[in-house]
Amino acid sequence: MKAVIPAAGFGTRFLPATKAQPKEMLPVFDKPTIQYVIEEAVASGIDDILIVTGKNKRSIEDHFDKSFELEYTLKQAGKTKYLKQVQDITDLADICYIRQKEQKGLGDAIYCAKKHVGDEPFAVMLGDTITKGKTPCTKQLIDIYNKYEASAISLERVPQEKVERYGIIKGVEIEQDVYQIDELVEKPPVNEAPSNLAIMGRYVLTPDIFDKIKETGAGVGGEIQLTDALAKLDKIYGNTFEGKTYDIGNRLEWLKTSIEFAMDDEESKNDLINYMKEIICLLYTSPSPRDRSVSR
Ligand code: UTP
Repeated sequence: MKAVIPAAGFGTRFLPATKAQPKEMLPVFDKPTIQYVIEEAVASGIDDILIVTGKNKRSIEDHFDKSFELEYTLKQAGKTKYLKQVQDITDLADICYIRQKEQKGLGDAIYCAKKHVGDEPFAVMLGDTITKGKTPCTKQLIDIYNKYEASAISLERVPQEKVERYGIIKGVEIEQDVYQIDELVEKPPVNEAPSNLAIMGRYVLTPDIFDKIKETGAGVGGEIQLTDALAKLDKIYGNTFEGKTYDIGNRLEWLKTSIEFAMDDEESKNDLINYMKEIICLLYTSPSPRDRSVSR
């Protein structure tokens, strides 16, 4: 199976950080966001990846390309650990690129992949969304696709007051964690949302989605919404992912994710916990903000 990673968006929610650099390249702890996405694809058995890029996205291509100069310098300096890390990135998967000429929305970005994908089912993995779980999120969707022979998307329950930030579904649970979906709406007002089950950035789609996108006009925010095209599919299933999904396009989520991932690193964990204890302690004990700077 091939994967398509849309990464052409403006990243307005994360300005000014994203003015001249892609949000997909913002590091989460020690790796760019999009590297986690590609690692998930590979862990799900995918090694043919198309990244949809746009203006100001050159650094994505550079990151996955071979860097002879850097490798030579690291080799000469005997920095073998870093050399291996750099070489591993290049060897991860076969990656192709296509440019979305105008940022007309996620649906339009996926449509750019039509030729590359051909007449096969394919995975869509948002370039600004990371998942963590025992079985990779995309692998779980591939299993559902294989079982039901229909498109499958990843879902997560969100607090009711946040439904207007997501695509929301209505469906019937047909087995544990699997829903047969009969309604999808993009960013519904809180009082009109059919549930609090939100679409979370991972999809396995049948190729008829391309015709559905073509029939789809601009929706919420004036963009061609993938959710509106999904709603036109005859059959579609949802899976409540037994893991966690992180939206890096939201600056506070990005910060929380970085902290959480740093906690997984044995070398950094204790330092980070001590630092957080110190700042929280200062916050509650110091009278003025000036006294709240932490020793390093
Ligand atoms: P988002 O809606 O989160 O990305 O799309 P955005 O438009 O960059 O974000 P804001 O709302 O302006 O802050 C999810 C993914 O789809 C890609 C984005 O790059 C992101 O990885 N995308 C979005 C495209 O590739 N093309 C588009 O036209 C829109």
